[in-house]
Amino acid sequence: MRILVTGANGQVGHELLRALSGEIIPATRTGVLEDGTPCGTLDLADFGALKKTLDRIAPNLIINAAAYTAVDRAEDEAELAQRINGEAPDVLSAWARQHAARVVHYSTDYIFDGSAARAYREDDATHPVSAYGRSKLAGETALRESGARHLIFRTAWVYAARGHNFLRTMLRVGAERDALRVVDDQIGAPTPARLIADVTAQVVAQWWLDETPARDGIYHLVASGQTSWCGFARAIFERAQTVGLIEQTPTVQAIRTDEYPTRAVRPAWSVLGTAKLRETFDITLPDWKEALDDVMRELANANS
Ligand SMILES: NC(=O)c1ccc[n+]([C@@H]2O[C@H](COP(=O)([O-])OP(=O)(O)OC[C@H]3O[C@@H](n4cnc5c(N)ncnc54)[C@H](OP(=O)(O)O)[C@@H]3O)[C@@H](O)[C@H]2O)c1
Repeated sequence: MRILVTGANGQVGHELLRALSGEIIPATRTGVLEDGTPCGTLDLADFGALKKTLDRIAPNLIINAAAYTAVDRAEDEAELAQRINGEAPDVLSAWARQHAARVVHYSTDYIFDGSAARAYREDDATHPVSAYGRSKLAGETALRESGARHLIFRTAWVYAARGHNFLRTMLRVGAERDALRVVDDQIGAPTPARLIADVTAQVVAQWWLDETPARDGIYHLVASGQTSWCGFARAIFERAQTVGLIEQTPTVQAIRTDEYPTRAVRPAWSVLGTAKLRETFDITLPDWKEALDDVMRELANANS
């Protein structure tokens, strides 16, 4: 299996390079991996070059971990977000269909409006409330309608020991201040990129053997359980102190979303049900707190 991984320097892309087996061809916008190793060059915004790159690499499987992920900036760059998240998946999947290749793609809880009273199911009605959410929904639709064999994993609240994410922001800001104010009325499941990559690899190993598209489609892929950003922040600091990353935990004060205005509207309820993934591929997802322990250990080891 010849696997093209786009966005190989992103949180999920980076972990995929570790988790996948087969002939892995990483690609980034710059043509260089984080550690300086040369790799494929691929810009999802340049459709002409993208097609040529696909012809040259000729993958059997495209795992699209690249995306425009700046949720607030997308309100001002909606066209660019739409091109990268909404239209590039159309180019990738059209190429895949023509060449009998398959596509694995990632989407987001932000395709929902957050008004549900239970965990979202894969077939619940979508209603994005941000430019980013609309662009990601367009990408899902393009792939589903392409006729290419595909899997779409909707995930949420992604973090890792590296990259730009809430955990790293908290550790940085927590080291500078004695007290922080964190939103307590948005609920979701913090999900490590390494978990997303590990599950992707396990599912792909099964799905690749499927001769029919019976198991193609959308799956929610998040850690189990739920918390608020405030609950996540408190858990980060408790564990950071336990593993010796910080000496003292700052005070975390719970605030409402309207006390921390952001450019983009975010769903208040981002809990994604994962029964379909469990029942279809026999995947059990760990509780978000256990998953956090793993990432904290990774950070502590890197610091020791
Ligand atoms: N982060 C979250 O909380 C979250 C939540 C739900 C769903 N998701 C989805 O999960 C997937 C993986 O997200 P992530 O957290 O790993 O994102 P990430 O860390 O922001 O990585 C995204 C990668 O995409 C690359 N990229 C951006 N524009 C590109 C372009 N025009 N052409 C090629 N590459 C481009 C970036 O490259 P540079 O390194 O050059 O900038 C970056 O390496 C995405 O589909 C995202 O929408 C993420």
